[in-house]
Amino acid sequence: MADLPLNSSSDASHQSSTEHPSLEHFWMPFTANRQFKANPRLLTKAEGMYYTDIDGNKVLDATAGLWCCNAGHGRKEISEAVSKQIKEMDYAPSFQMGHPIAFELAERLVELSPEGLNKVFFTNSGSESVDTALKMALCYHRANGQASRTRFIGREMGYHGVGFGGISVGGLSNNRKAFSGQLLQGVDHLPHTLDIQNAAFTRGLSHFGAEKAEVLEQLVTLHGAENIAAVIVEPMSGSAGVILPPQGYLKRLREITKKHGILLIFDEVITAFGRVGAAFASQRWGVIPDIITTAKAINNGAIPMGAVFVQDFIHDTCMQGSNELIEFFHGYTYSGHPVAAAAALATLSIYENEQLFERSFELERYFEDAVHSLKGLPNVIDIRNTGLVAGIQFSPNAQGAGKRGYGVFEHCFRHGTLVRATGDIIAMSPPLIVDKREIDQMVNSLSDAINAVG
Ligand SMILES: Cc1ncc(COP(=O)(O)O)c(C=O)c1O
Repeated sequence: MADLPLNSSSDASHQSSTEHPSLEHFWMPFTANRQFKANPRLLTKAEGMYYTDIDGNKVLDATAGLWCCNAGHGRKEISEAVSKQIKEMDYAPSFQMGHPIAFELAERLVELSPEGLNKVFFTNSGSESVDTALKMALCYHRANGQASRTRFIGREMGYHGVGFGGISVGGLSNNRKAFSGQLLQGVDHLPHTLDIQNAAFTRGLSHFGAEKAEVLEQLVTLHGAENIAAVIVEPMSGSAGVILPPQGYLKRLREITKKHGILLIFDEVITAFGRVGAAFASQRWGVIPDIITTAKAINNGAIPMGAVFVQDFIHDTCMQGSNELIEFFHGYTYSGHPVAAAAALATLSIYENEQLFERSFELERYFEDAVHSLKGLPNVIDIRNTGLVAGIQFSPNAQGAGKRGYGVFEHCFRHGTLVRATGDIIAMSPPLIVDKREIDQMVNSLSDAINAVG
């Protein structure tokens, strides 16, 4: 795949029908802007399992966009639902007004959610879902007569988006350190559960590390349960490079939080809607939290949308415990946006009709065998997987941390496969419509890249 010169719309040698835009004005998120703009990767179309880049090259999507497009790309059912809704009613507020489609979506969503999580609050992103969940936890304890419960406990290497709440409970130092003077007060972190020394190349959940949940008891002793509002963790950390919970770990967090009246929040922005072989990771691993945050695959990434699922008792306490007319002073202009809701309803129908959550579970073993075939290639120090997600970790090269991972990502892209690099870890999370041939293609592409990059 050719490198693109900047502003190259006059370059007649390109096969592209799309003009190359000026790259000057868009300050790109979580991107090495200077490097990207010198050597851009521009996608212009998407259909099924493939993107097409600006030069007309096909790129196999091994990342479902950014963990979003679980039903694959270009789904007519979704675009038709969006088009119909935008013609019928483009926008309507959800503050002191309502529209049927948002209520209909909430009802459809709770048919999928774990038992007891029967209330849904709409947001526009994972970051907003996390901030909403943290605020709900505070609202609940206050309404429950325990206003001293204000502390949060996150986890090292956790990613909870980029709001000040999310980076405070999150545990990725690059996302925190530039803002460290203004993070939320009263936040502690549990240890992360990555354990390459004992658990490298484990298929599925490891036997090592459930005891790391016991640190929560120490934090309770240190601060007093009466001061702790909630624990927030991703059941499986995606952004930090696919870090799985050890067997029994989530169950233990649940037991300790319940014992001390602390709310347990699962951030399922990546894992919800089929990624780990069930609608929610909570169901896959049999642990039901008090609040679940979601976004991304809720509507296949078509229109920004997120949703927070809440246990009835939290909602009911907030309703009953408030003296104000408005019980929860929180919300977004676009909460329950009708067009995003239409996209979500169409997406949920695809998931159901095509049994994509079941498919994710059924393909797990094939995917697992395929990714674990990379064991033994140069510098591969760990491979982790569950459902249709895998992380392949490399030792850093002499140029510094992350350089080898970036090299593999770049090689894959230039040879027609989109994977995701987080430092020296490559993550793969294909759309759930992926077939065995495409899994082989992804893994071959990765194998070639690992050998080439060395
Ligand atoms: C677990 C988790 N929480 C929150 C977020 C933030 O979502 P968004 O980028 O939609 O704000 C992400 C994004 O990847 C995530 O993986």
